[in-house]
Amino acid sequence: MMSDISVPVITVDGPSGSGKGTISQAVARELGFHFLDSGALYRVLALAARQRGIALDDEAALAELAAGLDIRFPADGEGDSVLLDGREVGGEIRTEAAGAGASKVAALPAVRAALLQRQRDFRQPPGLVADGRDMGTVVFPDADAKFFLTASAEERARRRYKQLKEKGKEAPYEAILADIQARDERDASRAVAPLKPAEDAEIIDTTSLDIPTTVSRVLAAIKNRLNP
Ligand code: DC
Repeated sequence: MMSDISVPVITVDGPSGSGKGTISQAVARELGFHFLDSGALYRVLALAARQRGIALDDEAALAELAAGLDIRFPADGEGDSVLLDGREVGGEIRTEAAGAGASKVAALPAVRAALLQRQRDFRQPPGLVADGRDMGTVVFPDADAKFFLTASAEERARRRYKQLKEKGKEAPYEAILADIQARDERDASRAVAPLKPAEDAEIIDTTSLDIPTTVSRVLAAIKNRLNP
């Protein structure tokens, strides 16, 4: 499938726990647009590498694996379903360990290059909301509206703690906070596509904003951009 640059794209970038996943899914639903969870691609890649016994620093093997990965998102933003080789891995890829593995493979330039076109292929009518770290800077630099969501590391750790508790998978708050800080550091300091806002992104600090308020702000800004 070819990507079509006349199709509108909205990018939502930011660190994990900033609320970008929830917000961008809600925005995609409101607009009736497709949804790309680009982090899931890196998470699935880390999982597939583990299954095949490929080390998370074997750049050439990982890039080859990334290029041929059979990954599908049957829910298109309406849930967490992700298929790897036709098998449901939606739950498995959203663990702390899978996130740490994703962050490692995501630091490798050849891996990012192998996934670039695959991400652009999600740009299909009537439009796309793309969630990640480099959606506005690298993957869709010509996006129609760009957002960068942030929140303090402590608030993001609290959200993650609550989320894990709801799933019955408790972890100590201090460990979650340390993990978030380590991941932020790795994502922001890597040489390729580091986590940073695009120059033309609207930055929204969600530390003290709830989800509906953030969604409304994003939607209002998109309406302004698409119909100025
Ligand atoms: O959004 P997430 O937590 O599912 O992302 C998992 C990891 O993948 C994260 O540590 C950084 C990496 N990632 C990336 O480098 N580029 C993206 N566009 C999305 C995720």
